[in-house]
Amino acid sequence: MADPFDFEKPARYAVMGNPVAHSKSPRIHALFAHQFRHLIEYTAIQVDEGGFAQAVEQFRANGGAGLNVTVPFKQEAFTLAGHLSERARIAQAVNTLRFEPDGGLFGDNTDGAGLVHDLEKNLGVHLKDKRILLLGAGGAVRGVLAPLLKHRPALIVIANRTLSKAKDLAEEFSHYGKVEASGFKDLKGRHFDLVINGTAASLKGEVPPLPDNLFTTHALAYDMMYGEKSKPFLDWAAVHGARQAVDGLGMLVEQAAESYLIWRGVRPETRSVIERLRAEG
Ligand code: ATR
Repeated sequence: MADPFDFEKPARYAVMGNPVAHSKSPRIHALFAHQFRHLIEYTAIQVDEGGFAQAVEQFRANGGAGLNVTVPFKQEAFTLAGHLSERARIAQAVNTLRFEPDGGLFGDNTDGAGLVHDLEKNLGVHLKDKRILLLGAGGAVRGVLAPLLKHRPALIVIANRTLSKAKDLAEEFSHYGKVEASGFKDLKGRHFDLVINGTAASLKGEVPPLPDNLFTTHALAYDMMYGEKSKPFLDWAAVHGARQAVDGLGMLVEQAAESYLIWRGVRPETRSVIERLRAEG
């Protein structure tokens, strides 16, 4: 492994996923590195399904220091990592890998911390005692459940198209706080301070079939995706009474800052990076 603090040769990092061509991570990490005058090289590597483990080994052999992992390889990264953080173990998914000097592979998951940071620090939403609705019951939702519950909301309801998946998650996470499962239709008559979309429905331009009066007067609607992919849900939320509707760009930058901290021991300043990315479009 190359020395990540060599001042002459850049330390090598990358994000691996499929698709990954339009990833904002290389830009985000370049802006982070600039803050500290760190010399790093951060690329996006598209990996074919079935080729992940080999791509990771090749990256290490070429002197890589660490990796971000995105869809669809987060579960595979979880099985590949020899050492795991507690939050990665709970999420059963890894989005950050660090190559250790002894040849080991450390896996962490910074997605939940990224979401919580964006909500609490950037958006000023204090999760304590809030009524939260989480839409979806796939990997994205699983990864943020424990970090959200740690902030002691009044309640988290997980609503999913396939009710059994929501029920399984609610049961598994019940010892972290008050968490319930629901179908979309059964949400009628219930109200939430924060509604987070973690479904893949927007990828098809769809919005889950939600009842109209879901939001309390001060409610925030949040989508874990950003840009165009978040639009169907956020547009729906704005029309249906959410006071504010925000995409997941802040979450993306915050999870990246947590990864940077894991690799290099310092947490970059994020607000200016989020503003810069919004301005760049
Ligand atoms: P990820 O890892 O991104 O969470 P996933 O595990 O495939 O991806 O989960 C996708 C989530 O989006 C699931 O909760 C899925 O609902 P089901 O469990 O019923 O499949 C949800 N989803 C996908 N398309 C949807 C749609 N058109 N309407 C509502 N929910 C949808």
